[in-house]
Amino acid sequence: MIGFTLRDGQWACDGVPVAEIAGGTGTPVYIYSAGLIRGAYAALDAAFAAYPHTIHYAFKANSTLAILRLLRGLGSGADANSGGEIEAALRAGFEPAQIVFTGVGKTRDELDHAVALGVKAINIESDGEADRIDALARARGVRARVALRVNPDIDANTHAHISTGQRFNKFGVPIDFAAALLRRLAGRTGLDVVGLHVHLGSQILDVGPLGRAARALADLTREVRDAGLRLEHIDMGGGLGIGYDGSPHGSPAEYASAVVPAVRPTGLHLLLEPGRFLVAPAGILVGRVADTKAYSGCPRFIILDTGMTELIRPMLYDAFHRIVEVTPRAGDPQEYDVVGPLCETSDTLGHRRELGPVEVDDLVAVLDAGAYGFVMASNYNRRRMPAEVLVDGGTWRVIRKRQSYGDLFRNEE
Ligand code: LLP
Repeated sequence: MIGFTLRDGQWACDGVPVAEIAGGTGTPVYIYSAGLIRGAYAALDAAFAAYPHTIHYAFKANSTLAILRLLRGLGSGADANSGGEIEAALRAGFEPAQIVFTGVGKTRDELDHAVALGVKAINIESDGEADRIDALARARGVRARVALRVNPDIDANTHAHISTGQRFNKFGVPIDFAAALLRRLAGRTGLDVVGLHVHLGSQILDVGPLGRAARALADLTREVRDAGLRLEHIDMGGGLGIGYDGSPHGSPAEYASAVVPAVRPTGLHLLLEPGRFLVAPAGILVGRVADTKAYSGCPRFIILDTGMTELIRPMLYDAFHRIVEVTPRAGDPQEYDVVGPLCETSDTLGHRRELGPVEVDDLVAVLDAGAYGFVMASNYNRRRMPAEVLVDGGTWRVIRKRQSYGDLFRNEE
């Protein structure tokens, strides 16, 4: 029994009662299903089976080492976005040749480290960055493997905060300037231009723009065919969305049928950098009801011991996450605002949600929280980072302890 299910009156993760886990760890706690991660990886991999491809899991979605090791074991490579994520990759056992290094605003130190390691590709964001990588590589007497991140000026039809592929976004080199830059880079002794890269945005449910972006990169490949580059791959970035309302997930098959026909004529290896699709549905955030209040003329509130410090998505993107009672009580549902304990009105996990009767100390779970959940947590209000648990094969274990107060003050004078 894989996944999060409501059976015999309580929610379980891969058959293990959520209440049992939360009772053991305390709350707030993130709980992940290894089985769901394996299933999502297999589904995506299978959808692209007809074309040579490599999945480079986007660490930014969730970079807890146990999750990284699980994905590495499935054959995934790494998409790292910072020096810290490169370090996470190495600690989780990835080889440098399995790491692509993306990110707008990489520092000189980060670039030098990536050059020294010899990562599979550093995704170049600008002319200036290309020059800096070239110089760093020549100083070390090596050639750095690089890919050019192209900004194709395509609207991904997603939330403006997570849309990255339009002219006015800070990411990549505008497509009109890409061919000229590629020709310039072909002669550099410190660079091997091995790929083209694009990332349109995140939580994309309409695969049309992804297909258009793939065609744009394929066209660019043709345009620079005679430039003397040794292109090996096209990296389509991440972005495949999921159904946060419980509807079927974004479809890997549709995704593949939008991208593969565009890339096939180039003959280049295809890289994918999925984050959300692999881990979002595989995680929940569990909190406990700290208080309730209902005054006439005001919303009825459920106040949890978890909120924006653990899961900021609802506040930052107006994101919808389903919220359920872990052990539903009998009785008529009511409409509640489900809020956190922080001193901010924006600390609201769900507006006007129908839940059954809820009492103080009951457990509540926020679903589809496996991506951009823990990784975006903060210590605001001196709150401690929550614990994380992985359920695998019917047993659970803590993969990250809750921060202690010692951890919280460790680096201070
Ligand atoms: N590759 C690059 C270069 C990226 O910037 C991203 C995400 C990904 C891959 C993975 O995208 P995914 O497959 O997960 O959509 N915090 C936001 C999402 C930010 C995504 C940033 N880039 C959220 O909670 O919705």
